[in-house]
Amino acid sequence: MKLQRTLAPTSAPLSLSNLIGSLPGLIGGRKYRERLIRELEAKFQARGVFLVSSGKAALVVVLKALAASSRRRRVIIPAYTCFSVPSAIVRAGLEVVLCDVNPRTLDFDFEELERLLSEDILCVLPTHLFGLPADVRRVVQLCRTRDIAVVEDAAQALGGGSEKGLVGTEGDVAFFSLGRGKNLTSGTGGIIVTKSPTLADAIHAEYSKLPAASFGETCRNWAELVLMRAFIRPTWYWLPSGLPFLGLGETKFYTDFPVCRMDEVRACQLVGWDRRLAKANTDRAACAGKLIMGLNQGFNGLQPITHPDGVYLRLPVLLRDRVAKHEACARSQKYGAGVSSSYPTTIQDIPELAGRITDRTCPGAQEVVERLVTLPTHEFVTESDRVKIWRVLGVSEPRSRNTGARSAPVDQCSSG
Ligand SMILES: Cc1ncc(COP(=O)(O)O)c(C=O)c1O
Repeated sequence: MKLQRTLAPTSAPLSLSNLIGSLPGLIGGRKYRERLIRELEAKFQARGVFLVSSGKAALVVVLKALAASSRRRRVIIPAYTCFSVPSAIVRAGLEVVLCDVNPRTLDFDFEELERLLSEDILCVLPTHLFGLPADVRRVVQLCRTRDIAVVEDAAQALGGGSEKGLVGTEGDVAFFSLGRGKNLTSGTGGIIVTKSPTLADAIHAEYSKLPAASFGETCRNWAELVLMRAFIRPTWYWLPSGLPFLGLGETKFYTDFPVCRMDEVRACQLVGWDRRLAKANTDRAACAGKLIMGLNQGFNGLQPITHPDGVYLRLPVLLRDRVAKHEACARSQKYGAGVSSSYPTTIQDIPELAGRITDRTCPGAQEVVERLVTLPTHEFVTESDRVKIWRVLGVSEPRSRNTGARSAPVDQCSSG
């Protein structure tokens, strides 16, 4: 543990007034929940909106709703994604099928996807990883004729996309996460949106079986949010990030997570979500743009992965090779730069899935594991943090836009 300014790899804005303003939810915040549902329906032109305890819980509910009217049991996901995704599929009693990814886009390898689409596939999950919109239209084109549902995993991309195609509106159904490091947070939380009246009815049938969140769970979530708000700041983040038992930023495969309705405190805490989200996403895209400018000047084998409509929950960058990644992550840890190694393995290599998924290699996903890092883009990243991040990545000659001065070598990187 090193007492120094330390950036979190990701962080969602949360004001004190949002936190305090959520307390009336403890004694009845139904009207806030209903207002939130109406606002989300309007935003996504949805026929059904459901608020649940997490993104994983949202996926379980959607999968059970789809499986209720089908004999198909297999779900295609990218071979490089958050471990919560296969966790939810297994929890829903379904089978994981992996499709390799294209390392340049992090989207599906579409040739392989086409080969995998067969009569026993229930649904496909295009995933808007790190806030980069996936090509959902292409997935829909492939799936429509085969009667396969398209479930957008928009856990990391709330508010992403453009007027022409908002993330979450092109598939049959989409879910978002309101977890702690997401575009918008309520501690934990999940949103399901669908335009399909039939699917809305099927999801409603599953949703109505869910228990409400317990009082204890509601209070614990709120207390965690208070702590998060205090310790996510760069002045304090060195403390929780230096305590390995907290497991901050770790992705885990586990199936015994709560699947319940979102409580009123969380719904109440999301009042004003649209403005808060728009500002956070604009700030992130601006920060990502500046980081990319510096990387492009560095000519150091760095390949930022970009999209014109990306909301950049984090900025993904491919480094030269596994060694460059290892060195950059070690330097980041030393200087508190918030550069993260992201998911540690492909989904194929999750030990708990051994024997549950077909044994195969996914070279695209493997390359991403070996070369990808993510850069922080959140509200706490300052101009001098960006310089620190460039140096950690070994960008040898980013010129300061104001002075034209060259940066110092990485060993002179300030840790203050
Ligand atoms: C791509 C992706 N899908 C699903 C999830 C699950 O969301 P939650 O953490 O809210 O359960 C996450 C969470 O980080 C995610 O990144």
